[in-house]
Amino acid sequence: MKTEVVFICRECEAKLLKWMGRCPHCGQWNSIEERVSQVAPKGIARQNEDKLGPVPVDEISYDRRPRLSTGIDELDRALGGGIVRRSVILVGGDPGIGKSTLLTQALGTMSKQGERVLYVSGEESLEQIKIRADRLGISSRSFLVVAENDLERIQELIKTTDASVVVLDSAQSVSCQSVDSYPGSVSQVRHVAACAIETIKKSRSACFLVGHVTKDGALAGPKVLEHMVDTVLYFEGDRGHPYRILRAVKNRFGSVSEIGVFEMTDTGLSQVSNPSEFFLSDRPEGASGSVVTAIMEGSRPILAEIQALVSGPTPGSGRRTCLGVDPQRLALMVAVIEKKLGLALNDQDIFLNAVGGVRATEPGVDLGIVASVISSFSDRIIPFSSMIFGEVGLSGEVRPVAKAPARVNEAVRLGYTRVVGPKKNLDSCALPEGALFIPISHIREAPAILFDGG
Ligand code: TYD
Ligand code: MG
Repeated sequence: MKTEVVFICRECEAKLLKWMGRCPHCGQWNSIEERVSQVAPKGIARQNEDKLGPVPVDEISYDRRPRLSTGIDELDRALGGGIVRRSVILVGGDPGIGKSTLLTQALGTMSKQGERVLYVSGEESLEQIKIRADRLGISSRSFLVVAENDLERIQELIKTTDASVVVLDSAQSVSCQSVDSYPGSVSQVRHVAACAIETIKKSRSACFLVGHVTKDGALAGPKVLEHMVDTVLYFEGDRGHPYRILRAVKNRFGSVSEIGVFEMTDTGLSQVSNPSEFFLSDRPEGASGSVVTAIMEGSRPILAEIQALVSGPTPGSGRRTCLGVDPQRLALMVAVIEKKLGLALNDQDIFLNAVGGVRATEPGVDLGIVASVISSFSDRIIPFSSMIFGEVGLSGEVRPVAKAPARVNEAVRLGYTRVVGPKKNLDSCALPEGALFIPISHIREAPAILFDGG
């Protein structure tokens, strides 16, 4: 095999023709390394894969056994109905958010169902893992644990243990001696993931690969791995709040819009099977600017509270601050309110918050945003039993949204009897006795409709 000398940036893996003090791609100083690489003659790499040639699609066989349940419904749901055998699932999230806790719990329940499972930790000692397992009430002979961060040893362990599910915690803590850059760098993390994935695909195990999201860029985050794995789950939440949301952002075997909701407790993560109730549990009564809207998360409608605080006038133009709501969406809605309702919001500070850490980013929340801003600006209270949803167009028209009946039913189930929604969705929604659907077709009608009956 021929060899060639290349110059590669340790940070961003850019390939250069000559050595430089500073990488022209990522701007890092002193990150260029000289490497000797072997060049395989063209055509060799794919030879093995292509040996069989094309086959008719109906002759391809695959493992038809049902997916493996993790024993945690919310995790199964985010995965699209359980673990697909031999698949690799990346679990990303901020340090301390609860990734190790969630996966330890999942392996705990699977091992109780008789599955043999393996937890490989490159970050924690056996003692630390045991302390966590005790806290989570896990004890099982088929739950195997190893503290190891050498890639080759880990590959060997995956082959010899023959577990149904392997957790590799984390990609950033494992390293391979043949790659000469520090653990956690882009090249190490990529190499580790690629080798681990290859080993998994040849075994009968499925694998959860943990990846910390990092802010300073010193460690390679899960983004560099997303394209290599079958499924990507992000574990989100605010460390100040107990709830956590597990969100699928890529899934070769299922829908990507499903989420799982959890609450962090003293004894681990507990499932929140009724998120709407959970997100609305602390809702203030009689507060202006507070509105309940319905967001679709996959197949599931979730009711959430949107709060607006409009205060002013301030000198110059007002500030706009959003939490959990797309700032562009707020800017659009504010422009529409100013133009169509004639409210002077230009010199007002506007703060908007989707309470509880939910992400209100779909168009169905538009009318909720409009309602909360009007309510706070005019300091008028929207009746507590209202649920408000609908998309708002640039000329102020209220457009119908998908899955309106599911949103309305969720509202009714939780006792919201006054639903304000797009006129074009009216016919598809059947409400029980005592509940009312108030149709709206333009935000011009909003002030009269929203506060009525308050
Ligand atoms: P951990 O799973 O270690 O986070 P990650 O692997 O994502 O870095 O969990 C971190 C936090 O969770 C830690 O601050 C302690 C807390 N925790 C609980 O509140 N209850 C529990 O039962 C456990 C195991 C952890
Ligand atoms: Mg951890």
